Amino acid sequence: MSKELIYMSFATQKGGAGKTPFTILAASWLHYKLGYNVAVIDCDYPQNSLAGNRKRDLDCMMKNEYYKKVAKEQFFAIEKKFYPVVGCDVQRALKWITSGADEVIDAAIEEMGFSDNLDVVLFDMPGTINQSEVDAETKKRRGVLSLVACMDYIFCPIRADRAAVDSSLLFIKAVQEQIINRRVGALQRFFLFWTEVDGREKTRVYDIVEKVASKFSFPILNTRIPYMLRFRKESLDTYDIFKSTLFPAKPSLAKDAKIDVFMEEICEKVNLKADLD
Ligand SMILES: Nc1ncnc2c1ncn2[C@@H]1O[C@H](COP(=O)(O)OP(=O)(O)OP(=O)(O)O)[C@@H](O)[C@H]1O
Ligand SMILES: [Mg+2]
Repeated sequence: MSKELIYMSFATQKGGAGKTPFTILAASWLHYKLGYNVAVIDCDYPQNSLAGNRKRDLDCMMKNEYYKKVAKEQFFAIEKKFYPVVGCDVQRALKWITSGADEVIDAAIEEMGFSDNLDVVLFDMPGTINQSEVDAETKKRRGVLSLVACMDYIFCPIRADRAAVDSSLLFIKAVQEQIINRRVGALQRFFLFWTEVDGREKTRVYDIVEKVASKFSFPILNTRIPYMLRFRKESLDTYDIFKSTLFPAKPSLAKDAKIDVFMEEICEKVNLKADLD
C-alpha cells in the first residue's frame, strides 16, 4: 500500500450528526470525481450502516436502465470500479490498522484492483463514542476513541444549537484529553466544520464554539454547509444524484450544498491535490 495512505473520518460524539452522509459524499467525490483510490470501512455495521446504503444503491441501479447507463459511462470514463465498502466493527478496524492484516478488508480492497495504490481510507464511525468492547486477545477495553486516535485527520460536524454544541464540545474535550495530551495514536489534525446552517444569524453560538475551539487549537473550516433535506434522503430515489456510493454528487447539487468548495478545503488540509486529472 502507498506510504502516503491517508486515514480520515467524520467523527463526533453526537448521533445523527451527518457522519454517514459526509463519509459518502467525500468518498464519492474523491474516488469518482478527483480520481483518488478510496476504500470505506463501515464501523457502524450492521446498524445504520453505510454498507446498507451501498447495497440499496446497487439494488436500485440494477432495476433502473438510466443508472445502469450512467454507471457504464462512468466505468469507461474513469476506468475503475466502485470503491469497496467493508462492514466491520471497531475492534476489527483497529486490528486492521495496527497489524495491517484482515482477510475480508484486504480481499475487498484487492478485488477493486488497487491494493498497491490506495490513497484514502474513510472510516464511518458508530453513533456514539462511548461504545467500547473488550478485545478478545489483549483483554484491553478499546472503543471508538482508540479508533479516532488512529486517524490522520478528523473532521467533526457541528450544528449551531445548544444541545448539539454541548455534545460536540464534550467530544473536543475527550479528544484533547485522551488523545492529544496523552500523545497516543497518529492523529495529526482535528477540524470542526459547521453544518445544517440555516442562514439565520446565530452569531452567539458560533462565537462561543469558535472561542472554545481556538482554546484547544482546533481550527474550524471556512466552508459552512447549508441545511439540505437531501442529507436525509436515500440516494438514488430521484434522478438528481446527491448522496450516492456509486456516483459523485451532481455538480449543481454539490454547488448548492457547497460540497465542491468543502472538498477543495478538505483536500488542502490533508495535502491532496483537488484538481487531479
Ligand atoms: N447540511 C445538512 N442538511 C441536513 N441535514 C444534515 C446536514 N448536515 C448534517 N445533517 C444531519 O444528517 C442526518 C442524517 O444522517 P445520519 O443520521 O445518517 O448521520 P450519522 O451521524 O451517520 O448518524 P449515526 O450516528 O446514527 O450513525 C440528519 O438527520 C441531519 O441531522
Ligand atoms: Mg452513521
